[in-house]
Amino acid sequence: MRAIRVGLLGIGTVGGGTWDVLNRNAGEIRRRAGRAIRIARVADKDVNKARRLVDGKAVLHKDAWEVVRAPDIDIVIELIGGTGIARDLVLEAIAQGKHVVTANKALLAKHGNRIFAAAQKKDVMVAFEASVGGGIPIIKALREGLAANRIEWIAGIINGTSNFILSEMRDKGLSFAQVLAEAQARGYAEADPTFDIEGVDAAHKLTILSALAFGIPMQFGKAYTEGISKLTQADIGYAEELGYRIKLLGITRRAPRGIELRVHPTLVPARRLIANVEGVMNAILVKGDAVGATLYYGAGAGSQPTASAVVADLVDVTRLITADPEHRVPHLAFQPDQLSATPILPMGEVETCCYLRMRVLDKPGVLARITRILADSRISIDAMVQKEPGEGEQRVDIVMLTHLALEKNVDKAIARIERLPTVVGKVTRIRLEALL
Ligand code: HSE
Repeated sequence: MRAIRVGLLGIGTVGGGTWDVLNRNAGEIRRRAGRAIRIARVADKDVNKARRLVDGKAVLHKDAWEVVRAPDIDIVIELIGGTGIARDLVLEAIAQGKHVVTANKALLAKHGNRIFAAAQKKDVMVAFEASVGGGIPIIKALREGLAANRIEWIAGIINGTSNFILSEMRDKGLSFAQVLAEAQARGYAEADPTFDIEGVDAAHKLTILSALAFGIPMQFGKAYTEGISKLTQADIGYAEELGYRIKLLGITRRAPRGIELRVHPTLVPARRLIANVEGVMNAILVKGDAVGATLYYGAGAGSQPTASAVVADLVDVTRLITADPEHRVPHLAFQPDQLSATPILPMGEVETCCYLRMRVLDKPGVLARITRILADSRISIDAMVQKEPGEGEQRVDIVMLTHLALEKNVDKAIARIERLPTVVGKVTRIRLEALL
């Protein structure tokens, strides 16, 4: 059988890794796919850099449109990133009847519904294993390995940069800003680092996981997104004393009245495996009703790990290229006419336990007033710590853990507590998940 011919758009970090892996493991890949897979055309803005890498083994283009329209290309790999030109190129590749492999989580989270509909019309596949968790085969696990299950929830460390920052802050006592600079220097961060630290990158990935887990359309616009930029050493230390670690988690859960879709810093019991995932690594916990909790761990970014997922998609698409389209695995795990209209829950309707930290004047009655407000809002306290004031200091930190409480009730209680004259500044709220 003739080789499958691939057009590669973007030969940067992941594109370069894909080129290497495909060449290095060509024999293994051919044995698995049943035929050779060859990158025949490469497009990159930096043609000189591309020329050095490709070394005459593929046709080079400065203009990516030439590649998506080239009649000899079977599969287009989109590694340009972003939601502008990348979207237009992917849609054009589909219109040209080409299969697409992409690592572009932002593109799928925002425009996936349109892209998959277009792909279905043209009977082509859009494969996106590399879009979540780098080299971790989480898309495959959710779509195929866990197909027997009713998925209950997913909780994942799906942004390596923020996990690296949190790990370094805890281990080395460094400030947020110091560690961010290091993460950028190591090349982990997105082009716009606010995407990493404000939870946007994690929300893109979580949107994809949620769609696959529950058979719902992509709804990035409804994701609640809160990042790590306001976390302090004090909170990391108090969490530790109480037996927890703070992780930036993407959480999606099937609740009685809708689906939760939220990214925020989270206290996780320190003894959970996921609480011990350090540095740039990713880990995704998936709870299915039959299988129970399963955990997927690995490198969530980087050249070769992400290329591992891109090449796995190439092998998958190659194996199925001649299959009847009805026999392929549906893009979003469920048949396209079986997607559910279950709503995404507004954050106010989500129930979580909380960590609350406040600075108060050390005077009689202060605590009584605070606990009265919590009781009025039907918030029950699970644990509490009050620190002795330092020498000559009249203000103390109070840290409380609550039982499950409705977010909108916690919002109201926090606003009332902050109005008390005996409470100094803002209340810090970090949600807590037992992950059982
Ligand atoms: N910026 C991302 C991260 C890269 O830090 O996880 C992989 O999507």
